[in-house]
Amino acid sequence: MPHKNPRSFSPSEFQSRILGWYHDNHRVLPWRETGNNAVTPYAVWLSEIMLQQTTVPAVIPYFLKFTAAWPDVRALAAAKDEDVMAAWAGLGYYARARNLLKCARTIVEDWGGEFPQTQEDLLSLPGIGPYTAAAVAAIAFAEGATVVDGNIERIVARVFAIDTPLPQGKGDIRRAADRIFEGMSRRPAGDIRSYPQALMDIGAGVCTPTSPACDQCPVAGMCLAKARGNPAQYPVRAPKKAVPTRTGHVFWIEDQQGYVVFQTRDHDRMLGGMTGLPTTDWDRPDVHPSQNPLETLLDECSVLSRTHVGTDRKS
Ligand code: ADE
Repeated sequence: MPHKNPRSFSPSEFQSRILGWYHDNHRVLPWRETGNNAVTPYAVWLSEIMLQQTTVPAVIPYFLKFTAAWPDVRALAAAKDEDVMAAWAGLGYYARARNLLKCARTIVEDWGGEFPQTQEDLLSLPGIGPYTAAAVAAIAFAEGATVVDGNIERIVARVFAIDTPLPQGKGDIRRAADRIFEGMSRRPAGDIRSYPQALMDIGAGVCTPTSPACDQCPVAGMCLAKARGNPAQYPVRAPKKAVPTRTGHVFWIEDQQGYVVFQTRDHDRMLGGMTGLPTTDWDRPDVHPSQNPLETLLDECSVLSRTHVGTDRKS
């Protein structure tokens, strides 16, 4: 019977069902423990950073490339910035790569090359927010932390049929998530490590955003949204705001030998630190596209690479 109110919900029954499902159905992923492969904090941390805003299939080749090139945190900390940025190219959200390096160097310089083991200490590191700190603490160090990513949010919103629309509903979802993790720290370490990953796998493959496969779900009988017959309507979202249109110019500047001008993008911009074609600012409603775009570029652009052009161009 689904709980009519959250008080009648049994965390331990819910957890046992989820863990039982994971035992039989877990995804085999390169950062997970296998028979001959023990999980390392480095692998957990690296995968969690890569998985922020990126899907598992997209991350796998990058994870393998990074761990082949830099097998541990010391190797990564000693890597050249440009090599790491180049290896990250294509994965998106490049601030993550810059923070990844900062974090690796902080771990080497301030923590003697060993990852801190608690949520609180992990949270002090560059690029590690509440979700990542909880996930690394739970998966790498068996701390019974409440781990809430987008997949787990959706499961919780459905199990408790939380009607408050996102983003305001986040607080309600967060409180309800504490219930599904209740008592987790009293379980064996293997369960603590597996449980958030089990929820992630169920979120990715069963309790999916638009067509949940409730017939395959180990906790369908405990799900209020399922009992109401409308699980796909959760989590409830506020109507979307209009996406603003931005205007700017991108330049293809080529000399007679075919060399093209590239720009190292400013660190505080989107794609900061990456190499790209020179552009004007895209966030300036006062710069109209009819204004001479090349003048605007030369006024505003701080770093143009000179090596690729025949003529020496000053920024
Ligand atoms: N998404 C974020 N972290 C994950 C993990 N450890 N396993 C699967 N999907 C994830």
